[in-house]
Amino acid sequence: MNEDAPRLPALPTLNTERLTLTIGGPEDATGMVRFLRENRAHLAPWDPPHPEGFETLEFWLRQMALSRRDFTEGRSARFIIRARGGDPRGPILGRCNFSNVIRGPLGTCFLGYSLDHRVEGRGYMTEALGAAIDYAFEGFKLHRIQANYIPTNERSGRVLRRLGFTIEGYARDYLFIDGAWRDHILTALVHPGGLDAPPTWP
Ligand SMILES: CC(C)(COP(=O)(O)OP(=O)(O)OC[C@H]1O[C@@H](n2cnc3c(N)ncnc32)[C@H](O)[C@@H]1OP(=O)(O)O)[C@@H](O)C(=O)NCCC(=O)NCCS
Repeated sequence: MNEDAPRLPALPTLNTERLTLTIGGPEDATGMVRFLRENRAHLAPWDPPHPEGFETLEFWLRQMALSRRDFTEGRSARFIIRARGGDPRGPILGRCNFSNVIRGPLGTCFLGYSLDHRVEGRGYMTEALGAAIDYAFEGFKLHRIQANYIPTNERSGRVLRRLGFTIEGYARDYLFIDGAWRDHILTALVHPGGLDAPPTWP
């Protein structure tokens, strides 16, 4: 073995009481297409415009391969959420993405998340994000997590509040969503341990 070769980080599997989170790969592409098709109307008011082919298997096979590569390079951690103890290829209940990672002295990222409409209101997203955020700080070595939401998305605001995110501002015409520029409430959560220096990856 080459001792000088960089060690690749292990793909995390996070277990909570009711859920399992994994970094999605090509084997999850079919499930992702299904999740998106079955939640089209539910997610439309909160999603930026989709690229061409967004609901196709080809798109997600490519996307999931990129997701794995980006994870090993420390550029994103895109988690798929399923029921704990179920079929590892069973229905996708939701996803949460730590993306647009900026390392160095900022050590930040953006968090996005969505849940199947049939399982909302059970505390699943708070539970999933609790574990994912712990990992983002300790395992993925981030200092700060930013999450922004449209003021009318009160449910999303409550998730963030429950998790300890604080409101940092209000951005007008922040993001193009559902056919128009939408104002957003800007929130963030900082590493609770107060790191001595910017963490490095891996
Ligand atoms: C926002 C979204 C992810 C919230 O998912 P969720 O699983 O319902 O959220 P939570 O995990 O916080 O669940 C909390 C709700 O479950 C209820 N609940 C039931 N059992 C619970 C339990 N055991 N533990 C905690 N909460 C429980 C709570 O009362 C709470 O209801 P409330 O928010 O109406 O007060 C989901 O609504 C969604 O996908 N929305 C569309 C996409 C979206 O908006 N994404 C974010 C863009 S910024």
